[in-house]
This record gives sequence, C-alpha cells and structure tokens, in this order.
Amino acid sequence: MYKSKLPEIDTKEMAEIDCLQQDELIRIEGRTPLHGSVRVQGSKNAALPILAACLMIPGRCIIRNCPVITDVGYMLRLLECAGCMVEQVGNVVTIDATNVREYRLPGKYVRKMRSSVILMGAMLSRMKEVGIEYPGGCVIGERPIDLHLKGLSLLGADISVEGNYIYAGAKTLKGARIVFPFSSVGATQNIILASVLAEGETYIENAAREPEIDALCNFLKTAGADIEGIGTSMLRIRGVEILHPVSFEVIPDRIVAGTYLFATMVSRGSICLKETPIEHLGSVIEVIKAMGNDIRVREEQREIQLYCGGRIQNLPLVRTDIYPGFPTDLQSLLLVAAVTAKGELVLEESIFNGRFKIVEELRRMGAYIRENGNQVVISGGTELSGRNVIARELRGGAALVAAGIAAEGMTTVVGTCYINRGYEDIVRDFKMLGAHIDRMTENEREK
Ligand code: EPZ
Repeated sequence: MYKSKLPEIDTKEMAEIDCLQQDELIRIEGRTPLHGSVRVQGSKNAALPILAACLMIPGRCIIRNCPVITDVGYMLRLLECAGCMVEQVGNVVTIDATNVREYRLPGKYVRKMRSSVILMGAMLSRMKEVGIEYPGGCVIGERPIDLHLKGLSLLGADISVEGNYIYAGAKTLKGARIVFPFSSVGATQNIILASVLAEGETYIENAAREPEIDALCNFLKTAGADIEGIGTSMLRIRGVEILHPVSFEVIPDRIVAGTYLFATMVSRGSICLKETPIEHLGSVIEVIKAMGNDIRVREEQREIQLYCGGRIQNLPLVRTDIYPGFPTDLQSLLLVAAVTAKGELVLEESIFNGRFKIVEELRRMGAYIRENGNQVVISGGTELSGRNVIARELRGGAALVAAGIAAEGMTTVVGTCYINRGYEDIVRDFKMLGAHIDRMTENEREK
C-alpha cells in the first residue's frame, strides 16, 4: 500500500488552508490515457448569479441543470438566511422568495466565496439595504470590489465600510450611466441586478461579455426585465416595476468542458464530451487544435470529439484574456498540458496577479517551469512523476488531478474541498473515463 507523508508545510499555512484540515484526499494511479464519453455539468458561474437574482422575485422560481457543488450550497444557505424557501433535488433548485425579510447576510457563508458579493445588487433591489462582509473565494490574487461599490453608489446606494463589514442602503435606486475602466464579470452582474428594478434607464459601458453574463440577462428577461445589448459590451437596462417567477435551465459549464479536454490531452487519450457549450469554447478549441490534436465539433449533437494520440507541440505564447479570449480559468489546465507537450510555451496571465499557485507542485512532479512576473515559461517534453501535492484553489486543484492522471506512479491531492466548489464529482467523471482514481481519507491512506 502506498505510504508517504504529506509534504512538510508549516502549520500556519496548514491552518490557513481550511481544506487541509479536512482529511479527504484524491488518490490517482497514473499514466492512464482517458477514453470514453462524459456529460458536461451545469455552469457554476452561470448558476450563482441566477440564484442570487431569484432573491428579487416574489414567488417560486425553478432552476434546472444547476450543478450540485459547494458554492451553490453556500449561495442557497445565504438565500435561506435572507428568508427564501429553498429546495435542491439533484440538479433542480426551487427558490420561493416571497418572504425575504433579512438584509444582513451571515459572514460564515459570505466568506466562503467571491460571488456572495453580487447579493448586494439583488438585496438592494429587493430590500433597499444589505449588510455583508468582504467576500472570500479562491486565493488567485488581489480581488478588490471597488468597481462593484462605485457602480452601486452611482445607482443611489449609500455605502459605508467598517473594517470587513459593508452596509449599503438606498431610498430608491435610480438608473445611471456606469462606465467600467476594464471588464469585470462580477461588477457587471452586480450592476445588472441593482438596475433591473431601478427607476429609469441604466447604461453599462465596457460591460463584461462572458457567456455567464448573457445567461443572467436571459434569465432576467424571461422574468420580465427590459435589457438590450445582450452579448455586447454596452448594456441598456430600463427599470421595471416587478419581476415574475420563472423556470430556467442553466447553460453547460465551459470551464469544466475545457478541464476535461486538457486532461485528455495531457493523458494522451481520446474522449467525447456531451452536452457541450461549443459556442463558448472557440479560443479553447483553437489552442487545442493548434497544439496538434485531432478535435472534431458536432454542432447538432452538441458534442466534441478529441483524439490526442501523437506528438503534441506547444505554442510559443498564450495569453489569457477576457471573453472570447483564452479563459483565465483554464490557464492552470493549459499549463499542465504544456509540461508534457514538446517545445517551450510562454503562458501569460493577464486577469489575475496570483494564479500560478500550482507551479511549485508541478516542479515537485518533475516539471521545468520558470516564473517571470505575470508570465511562466514552460519547458515541455517532461514525463511527470506521482507525488503528494496540495490544491490551494479550485482550477489549480483540477489541474493537479489531471497531472496525476498523466504522471508515472501514485499521486495524492489534498485540498479537495477547493475542487468540490466547482466540479460536481471530478472523481466520478474521470473514473468514467478510465482513470484509476478514488477519494479516501487520511487515515485510510495510513493503513
Ligand atoms: C469571475 O470572477 C469568475 N467567478 C472567475 O471564475 C473568473 O476567473 C473571472 O470572473 C474572470 O473571468 C465567478 O463568476 C463566480 P472579475 P470575478 O471581476 O467576477 C479585478 C472560477 O474559477 N477587479 O472579472 O471576481 C479583479 O481583481 C472563478 O470559477 C477589480 O480590480 O472576476 C481581476 O483582476 C475564479 N475591482 C479582474 O478585475 C473590482 O471591483 C477581473 O475580475 C472587480 C474586479
């Protein structure tokens, strides 16, 4: 039986990584090419703002294809604390927001994820006041909320900050022209939520154009909101009196789809992705094709076939960008794929300033990676070796699991609760694709 000790990390860091205090880990017996087909789950980053929007709608909304992940769980607890009746049966969530009455949101859930901040817009629309702590979320660099607060105050909210606590209140919310200096997904969502029931017209210039923004706007339009310019960086929103309850389906998760494509590449396997958001994966498909893989898109069936048998070649440079550029959320997955591909890749992270957390862990698995500010230079052609590694955030954790599937020997990944925040069951899906992977507890491993 594989016996090893967790890599020595200082207890202070251990204490900070609350996941490590839980003893669940993922164990992978590597070098297994992935084969078979797998369905893509509903999108975390589309579901969360839609659930927040339900707070604004008196009556019963039904949200289908909602992923069963811990971040959805935290959001539902927050809605319950505000007074909503909430039920989740599999991928169907029912929210009755008839009796929303509490404007203060409990820090223990708010601190768990970044997207709790968009409840400010929803709560201001519904109750005209909100008390919330600074949000938590993955440690991938500074994550200020200045654009959120500035936009909400332009709509008429009085905002006071005391330490970590924020109070926002407004007699009425009035439409305004909001010009973002750069694209922010969350700030765009927050302003949309705060303006659909405001008096008058709101213009959002330089709005984010991620598919998750379109999904939120489509949900709100179905509920009676008046929004124009969906899919563009200029949104015009005319406030309406009230929104009515709806039933809505969450779009598939483009980042989970991309995760499975890159994991297949690094394992030199071949898979078929089902229920895939093909239209949201343009830049990802281009990079995978340009690296020498055989990738075929079947629009009608909403399927992607990927064959990664032979020689895979790194591109000279890939830069993450806002949509429709290469997504920052797949940067860690491309990084792992580049380690085993031939040639050298310069990978530039242009959205966050702390998103190379897995580099240290990959070096321990044998990778040659140089860091240079917001770039890493990956020398490809490396055979990875199994190690005990630590996940410190969501997408980096998924990338370490992919590395374990491709590595020679045994890999264990601790910090799995970061991964559970965004993936319904990464072990179930990779096992379905033939990986030798399972969940276990620390004491099971010691036996
Ligand atoms: C959303 O985060 C996603 N999260 C992230 O996915 C994703 O990486 C990110 O958008 C970019 O696409 C959810 O949708 C829940 P931003 P968000 O505001 O809204 C800076 C995942 O793995 N900024 O577009 O927080 C910010 O620091 C997660 O699923 C400010 O300076 O991202 C960052 O550098 C990780 N001030 C940049 O803008 C602000 O007020 C883009 O952030 C807001 C943002």
